Amino acid sequence: MIIDAVLSPAEIDLLPQQDLTKAVCIVFDVLRATSSILTGLAHGAEEIRPVVSIDEAFAARVQWPDAVLGGERFGDRIDGFDLGNSPQEYCRDGLRRIVTTTTNGTVALRACEAAREVWVGALLNMQALVGRLRQTAPERVLLVCAGTFRELALEDVLAAGMLACACPEATLTDAAHVARALYLQYQGRELTGLEQSKNGGVLRASGRGGDVLWCAQISRFPVIGILRDGVIKKG
Ligand code: MLT
Repeated sequence: MIIDAVLSPAEIDLLPQQDLTKAVCIVFDVLRATSSILTGLAHGAEEIRPVVSIDEAFAARVQWPDAVLGGERFGDRIDGFDLGNSPQEYCRDGLRRIVTTTTNGTVALRACEAAREVWVGALLNMQALVGRLRQTAPERVLLVCAGTFRELALEDVLAAGMLACACPEATLTDAAHVARALYLQYQGRELTGLEQSKNGGVLRASGRGGDVLWCAQISRFPVIGILRDGVIKKG
C-alpha cells in the first residue's frame, strides 16, 4: 500500500485533472466539516450530500424536500439554512437527509469524486479508518487535507499523519512523511494541536471552543462515511 497526501487547497484544485481511479481518497476537514458529517452519520443521518455552492444546496433541497440544509461561510450559519457547521448540531434526532456546503471540506470531498472510493476522515473515526484500511488494503491511498480558505490547516495534516503512522507496513510518499512527522510532534496531545492551529484559535475566540474539544475526540465513532454518486452514506 502506498500512502500519499495532499496537504493544501492549491493541490486540491488539481485533483479533478488527476487519474484517481485506483486511489482511495480519505478527506480530512477536522475543524469542522468532516467531523460534523461523521457526527451526523453516527446519530442516524442516512444520506448527506456535500455541495460546493449555496445555490447548489438550495437546488439539492428541491430534489430532497425532506433534507435539512447545513454548513457555513466564514464559520457562521448561512442565511436560510437550518444548521450551521458545529458538529454538536448534527447530534439532533431526525436528521435523515442533510445537504451541506462549507468553505473547504465539501469542496475537497467533491474534488475527489472520480476516485475509486472517497472516505470521510476525522479524529472522531480514526480507528474505523485504520481498521478499514487494514481490511481492504488498497494499492493507493491519498490523504486529502482540506485546509482553511487557501491555506494548509495543521489539524488536517495532524489527522492525516496519525493515519499514516497507524499503517507502518505502508510505503509513504514525502508528503505523507511530512504529515506523519507533524503528527509525532503532537502524539498524545492532539487537543493541543487543534488548539494551536489557526482554525482552533478562531473557533475558540468566537465562543466555539466546545467544537474544538468535540473534534479532538479520538475514535469516538466507529463509522466510515463513503461518498458515492454525490451522496455520503455509512459504508
Ligand atoms: C470548512 O469547510 O472550511 C470548515 O469546516 C469551516 C468551519 O470550521 O466551519
